[in-house]
Amino acid sequence: MKTTFKKILVFSSNKNKIKEIKKIFIGKKIKFLSIDKSVMPEETGKTFNQNAKLKSKRGFDLYKIPCISDDSGICVSALKGGPGVFSKRFEKKFKSQNHANQEIIKLTKKLHDNKAYFKSVISFTYKKNKTITFEGIRNGIIVSKPRGKRGFGYDPIFQPNGVKKTYAEMSKNEKNSISHRSIAMNKFFIFLNQLT
Ligand code: IMP
Repeated sequence: MKTTFKKILVFSSNKNKIKEIKKIFIGKKIKFLSIDKSVMPEETGKTFNQNAKLKSKRGFDLYKIPCISDDSGICVSALKGGPGVFSKRFEKKFKSQNHANQEIIKLTKKLHDNKAYFKSVISFTYKKNKTITFEGIRNGIIVSKPRGKRGFGYDPIFQPNGVKKTYAEMSKNEKNSISHRSIAMNKFFIFLNQLT
């Protein structure tokens, strides 16, 4: 990769996202630092885009190095597109992630509508007042029972269109080859190449 950035901060408090993004970075000639601290801003935005920007700007302001952040979630047709940007808050209303996943399956069955998509917005702040965002969407369905032990969050209940496995049944590399997050990250890499 031709790029002027030798270090990029991945500003996230979600260890699973950091692990996935780390794998996506493998092979790129770029060093990156990741942090896992309670310095995240409150996610007050109404959209993935707004929240992702809040996070990458905060990371840049704190550490003064180019910073990426991810805001993502699952959008379920039977929940009128929810929980979407509220995916983390939705999960927190239940005893466990599994309970949240079961609730989504229940509503999906009740409404006979299993369509869903995952969305990720990657925000990159590389100078003061220079922030750009990249979006990735993966369409799929909510399965009738959670399947798979890998991944995190809503992975066991989401099966992308065109494949027979849920995200949680895939290896990290398999998920990264098709995921909403990797679509957004690939757009980010194209942008990095164009900068030089
Ligand atoms: P946030 O973007 O850190 O606010 O978190 C969004 C919520 O969506 C969290 O509850 C995550 O567990 C969930 N989420 C985001 N991306 C994924 C994914 O790739 N798989 C499963 N769940 C995800």
